[in-house]
Amino acid sequence: MIFATNFKTHHTRVSTKEYMKKLQDFIIKENIKDDIFVFPTSTSLGNFKLPSNMFMGVQNAYPAINGSYTGEIGLEQINEFDLKTILIGHSERRTILKESQEFIAQKFNYFKKNNFKIIYCIGESKEIRDEGFESAMEYLWSEFDGIDISYDKLIVAYEPIWAIGTGASAKKEDIEQILSSLRVKIEAPLLYGGSVKSSNIKEIAGIKDCDGVLVGSASLKVENFCEIIKNSKK
Ligand code: PGA
Repeated sequence: MIFATNFKTHHTRVSTKEYMKKLQDFIIKENIKDDIFVFPTSTSLGNFKLPSNMFMGVQNAYPAINGSYTGEIGLEQINEFDLKTILIGHSERRTILKESQEFIAQKFNYFKKNNFKIIYCIGESKEIRDEGFESAMEYLWSEFDGIDISYDKLIVAYEPIWAIGTGASAKKEDIEQILSSLRVKIEAPLLYGGSVKSSNIKEIAGIKDCDGVLVGSASLKVENFCEIIKNSKK
């Protein structure tokens, strides 16, 4: 399985360091073989010595080596930490930060060219979901416009917007239906995200075609993230 934690705008340099240490200790002590990704804030990125199955990634970056992009970081800043993983297309960047599909594809292609592992997020709104499964799939495929779905370092995260941060994840049958439809065309690992927590991980991990999870709120405390990893195996 793949377990990814997205800190969003939480944690500081100090608390990220503590988090990484505790998570690493847990992974070693429990002999966890899954791939674990941590996406801290840009200010908390670092050159951490990590086990081979643990990766730090960036939540966002501008598709340029450097330049006049106020408030952004580029490849030069990421390279300083030797990081090779990026999250692209998260719904909060699509909606709150107004990133267009065209710009998202530009980012994707830039970081693909630079050989990054890309966790690429897609997800429909409540309004679209309410129109039914066909509408949801049509919308989800449109979020792959300009994206190379055969890229060998791609991981796709399906995160229905209405399930993010709400405490209520999508229903097992719905996740199953969406992931199996994506699987028809996509060979890359498929993650589910949206209110994953220690109490529902077992069910989600058991979904056919679900190769892992992307977790926000329920992973902010390292103990809870460890419990999610542990409970997936019970
Ligand atoms: P959540 O966030 O776990 O808080 O729902 C998931 C995400 O946005 O990646």
